[in-house]
Amino acid sequence: MSPLGSVRQVQKINQELLPEIEQIRRTDETGQKWSQKSYPGGYTSYATLNRLDQFSTSFLNIRNKIDLQVQKFSQHLDMDLQGRKLIMTNFWVNIMPPKTVHSMHIHPLSAISGTYYVQTPKNCSAIKFEDPRIVCFMGSPPRKTRARDDNQRFISLTPQAGQVILFESWMRHEVPPNLSRQNRISLSFNYDWI
Ligand SMILES: [Fe+2]
Repeated sequence: MSPLGSVRQVQKINQELLPEIEQIRRTDETGQKWSQKSYPGGYTSYATLNRLDQFSTSFLNIRNKIDLQVQKFSQHLDMDLQGRKLIMTNFWVNIMPPKTVHSMHIHPLSAISGTYYVQTPKNCSAIKFEDPRIVCFMGSPPRKTRARDDNQRFISLTPQAGQVILFESWMRHEVPPNLSRQNRISLSFNYDWI
């Protein structure tokens, strides 16, 4: 998890994004209906407006910054791209009002996924990752609540507005209930190996 710019830069970016995100939510009636069924209590443009980088320059600017982070991340992972590239294929908004949850899932067929945080009010949800070896543990005893991160079965990261988090798309993750009194707002994305 790392900031996408200085505190001032990301504050400015997020102030520009918030009204655009609200406009998207208000006008995307198909997405609202989809969200009622698939994202109870919240709104996501995942099924309807999932190329936000083509929606406005604000989103395109964010995409350009994320592109650089994804490039660094793939190098950190020693990915051998074999002449192909990691290309953003989806970019969508998530609005999580209080008590909304997003259950455990992966991002099928993508290589790297992640989220940029636009609004993270006090007590809003962390993002929680599951140890991918969990199906192998069988008779293995549970770990202490205060076990070090390397030994935990789940890792929760508390986001701050302006930060981006990247992970390999096969990592199962969820967003537990938003215990804040305000909306938790983020932009999520997928990069495919193309
Ligand atoms: Fe996700």
